[in-house]
Amino acid sequence: MKIRSPRGQWSSRLTFILAATGSAVGLGNIWKFPYMVGQNGGGAFVLVYLICIFLVGIPIMIAEVMLGRRARQNPINGMAILAEQEHHSPRWSLIGWSGTLAGFLIFSFYSVISGWVLYYIYLSWNPGFSGLTMEESQSLFRNMVADPYGLIGCHTLFAIMTFGVVARGIQAGLERAVKILMPGLLILLFLLLGYSMSYGSFGEALRFLFQPDWDHLSGQTALAAMGQAFFTLSLALGAMMVYGSYLPSNISIPRTCIIVALSDTAIALLSGLVIFPIVFAQGMAPASGPGLIFQTLPVAFGAMPGGQWFAFMFFILLVFAAWTSSISIVEPGVSWLVENHGWTRPRASVMVGFGGWLVGLGTVFSFNLWKEFTVLGKTLFECLDYLTSNLMLPLGGMAIAIFACWKLSVNSTRNELNLLGPFEFNLWRGVTGILAPTAVLLVCLNSLGVF
Ligand code: TRP
Repeated sequence: MKIRSPRGQWSSRLTFILAATGSAVGLGNIWKFPYMVGQNGGGAFVLVYLICIFLVGIPIMIAEVMLGRRARQNPINGMAILAEQEHHSPRWSLIGWSGTLAGFLIFSFYSVISGWVLYYIYLSWNPGFSGLTMEESQSLFRNMVADPYGLIGCHTLFAIMTFGVVARGIQAGLERAVKILMPGLLILLFLLLGYSMSYGSFGEALRFLFQPDWDHLSGQTALAAMGQAFFTLSLALGAMMVYGSYLPSNISIPRTCIIVALSDTAIALLSGLVIFPIVFAQGMAPASGPGLIFQTLPVAFGAMPGGQWFAFMFFILLVFAAWTSSISIVEPGVSWLVENHGWTRPRASVMVGFGGWLVGLGTVFSFNLWKEFTVLGKTLFECLDYLTSNLMLPLGGMAIAIFACWKLSVNSTRNELNLLGPFEFNLWRGVTGILAPTAVLLVCLNSLGVF
């Protein structure tokens, strides 16, 4: 197999941590986590989510980054090369294909929701949130999603932002962006936490988030929690493989992945602790769906001195967080077109970007013109989300785990994870090779009602 692009490398471990954190921390933490928790009844969902992060997510992340570093190629090519080296069927490259396709589909709705955030940057000045009541906030959100043209405009802008960066190659700028972004986002989240603790129903929110109500635990809840763990850690799509492919070989993969996963989880929990006190204090339904943060946060900003500036900065930082994630979502597809088909980066970016934008119109319309059009009770957006987060990512992750533990020779793996002691190495292999795939399988079967 021809390898066209000799790859650059991250300049340091910190750069990789920043880039991977930039990919992991995004709308998944701040927008999706709270509304999923709300829709799935709180504590039980959070507990299953946390278990999935530690027992399924982190081990698979290590496996994925390791495969990426070994192959030093885009996921489709990389999996084919690794399978060939170890004399296995070329069909293992299906992992790369399904991940790349999932990325394309995820981008299509990710860009639309990021467009909402862009819209809220504008709304934070005009009309502004000062003294906003819950009803007014809800009607702002309702009016936004009812207007397809506004949504298309914002979706288009975000798609251009993403592919503008991807067209130039991803490494430049990413590091600097994340260095400012993460501390900024943390400061604003803590500020909001202060508001929620003083003015929201903090006790009620704590009970909702951390006291599991087992009546709410169903097969579907567990599947949603597992899907959320994959989504939030950017797993199984090849994004981590691509980032791993730039990783210098003397860096410990496990330690780095644990840092990334813990930061990501902390930010999601923080976001939950900010949102739910406001939800309960305002008597809002936790299961309000994808509009949850857009309806609650403006009320909090509106009640703070200087809230206009904070709201403005918060939504800008959130767009940045979504941006660094969205770049990693489409990178596998673009690098495949560049490395396997000899396209130039700009050309590949325009093609993938246009396709993703077009599919994204389906998500735009599923909030207004096509609201009534449902399959199995789900709108088009919900179908795309379910298909990717709950099916493609977990199954892809399972395949990655199996390949890394059972198909790659133990020697190759040990060399790649050379900084692990024998005990830790075997622990990782056991968890990744047996526990994680079994867990994914059981959750999937259970959600299908097999037992
Ligand atoms: N993890 C990101 C978020 O939480 C989204 C994301 C980026 C992603 N890359 C991914 C999700 C790869 C799945 C797979 O917003």
